[in-house]
Amino acid sequence: MATERIDKILASCTGRSRKEVKQILRSGAVRLDGSAVRSPDLRADPETAVITVDGVRLVYKKYIYIMLNKPAGVVSSTDEKGMATVLDLVDEEARRRNVFPAGRLDRDTTGFILLTDDGAFAHEILAPGKHVEKTYLVTAEHRLSDAQIRTLEQGIEMDGETLQPCVLTVVSDGPQPVYELRIRQGKYHQIKRMFAFVDNRVLALRRTAMGGLALDPSLREGEWRELTPEEVARIKA
Ligand code: URA
Repeated sequence: MATERIDKILASCTGRSRKEVKQILRSGAVRLDGSAVRSPDLRADPETAVITVDGVRLVYKKYIYIMLNKPAGVVSSTDEKGMATVLDLVDEEARRRNVFPAGRLDRDTTGFILLTDDGAFAHEILAPGKHVEKTYLVTAEHRLSDAQIRTLEQGIEMDGETLQPCVLTVVSDGPQPVYELRIRQGKYHQIKRMFAFVDNRVLALRRTAMGGLALDPSLREGEWRELTPEEVARIKA
């Protein structure tokens, strides 16, 4: 990998600001491959260099991938003025890395949202024709007939095109029925518009999985954790 300035590497590994990192460097606590470093503009390959702070080796992460259980009332766009956004829920390190949501959820939708600073990965899972499958639990106002389920599964017309086929299964058939819906596309309000097409209404919507990765059931709404490399691979699988 290419070399980077040591103050940048330290900031990205520790979540400290560049100013704080300069102070740490000045204190003599940092060693690069065994030698003390005080200069912020010294360059190193973060993937191969052994960098320690007070004797503790840094773990370099090129990118981070965050699974967040989004609560209702929080917007997934990052620049909404005066509204709570998903970025308010993650920590300083993630914000400093400029993570962004790979795919949007409506303000009232809950569940799995993926935040990352890896633009190529986000593009890969969101680009038209490459969309990974997303699984949602949909609480509807009325029961769908078998014919309506078939209509939605085959793909209705939306924005001048026929939606890709999807899979719609009944989870519970009570007065407010719940369906599991697996779709690949991500058009604006797609699921709400699909249910409106068959004269129904979405009362609650929750994303439970992206690709082969389910939302961690131990995460309460508003909580998040980083994904392991194996989990990142499972999203695409
Ligand atoms: N479809 C919707 O209508 N809303 C979402 O948040 C996601 C998919």
